[in-house]
Amino acid sequence: MDNNRRPDNMTRITTPELANAFIDEQVKLLREQIGSSKVLLALSGGVDSSVVAALLIKAVGDQLVAVHVNHGLLRKGEPEQVQKVFRDEMKANLIYVDAVDRFLDKLAGVTDPEQKRMIIGGEFIEVFAEEARKLDGIKFLAQGTIWPDILESEKGIKAHHNAGGLPADLQFELVEPVKILFKDEVRAVGSALGLPDSMVYRQPFPGPGLGVRCPGAITRDRLEAVRESDAIVREEFAKNGLQGKVWQYFTVVPDFKSTGIKNGERCFEWPVIIRAVNTRDAMTATVENIPFELMQHITDRIVNEVKGVNRVLYDFTPKPTATIEYE
Ligand code: XMP
Repeated sequence: MDNNRRPDNMTRITTPELANAFIDEQVKLLREQIGSSKVLLALSGGVDSSVVAALLIKAVGDQLVAVHVNHGLLRKGEPEQVQKVFRDEMKANLIYVDAVDRFLDKLAGVTDPEQKRMIIGGEFIEVFAEEARKLDGIKFLAQGTIWPDILESEKGIKAHHNAGGLPADLQFELVEPVKILFKDEVRAVGSALGLPDSMVYRQPFPGPGLGVRCPGAITRDRLEAVRESDAIVREEFAKNGLQGKVWQYFTVVPDFKSTGIKNGERCFEWPVIIRAVNTRDAMTATVENIPFELMQHITDRIVNEVKGVNRVLYDFTPKPTATIEYE
């Protein structure tokens, strides 16, 4: 059988029993493939890389070296959660790299969204490669490639973002244990492996992170306003039963200010833009109808709790004409 392809008759993994059967089979295959060698993984804390990490910990324990790069564009609490779940609870061999200054210094003054993406992507590879070069005896590179990635790259829709990218001196054999799974199956496997729901059922989050939600040149204070307002929106959506119901919801802080009043005095501060959309395939999207009272409550919290913000706006634009992200 070709292990690289999803068999046509494969049962969709929808239950813990099916997930456990998949896990047992993969653990066996991973042990056969990896033997006593070491395997490296870039662990972002997203669903796919987290599930791959958990599978590898189960299969080969501390032969896995997981590298978590904090590029300064992660959401509130994410680097802490990765360390808590993987280092403290699962006892993984986790290398945490604080690269916040490095990324933000490189991004200083850069306004073009494509250039920002290039810098973030390029710097990520550099940081990861530097860590890889410090390690001895790594033979394998694990990746969270999933079945839609393979289908989309075959159809020429998008370049398969996982494949390659590392400099020529770093050539590893690939380990891709979830490559025949659809996203919902990856989630089922993640739950069966004991990963927390907040990790397994989280909304999509782009690789360049909050960098695409801080339009124009990124500054540390405006990035902080994005991070804090995003945390409030996530908290309120979870409290009000919208988590898991709305595809994606987040905030953006554009780089302009306007006049307002705080404590009886004039202030000149940013607006926060809230975006909440639904989609099936991210090619088109509709805007979620958020209850007005909830929007008022979120607005109240944001203008009172987030430094440098005096207004809250809602983005009513579907995709098209807008994209889901706002950059
Ligand atoms: P747009 O903004 O193009 O986004 O309508 C469509 C979906 O893709 C996500 N997105 C990304 N995901 N790396 C990712 O892994 C990226 O660079 C990236 N850019 C956008 C976006 O969040 C939405 O779900």
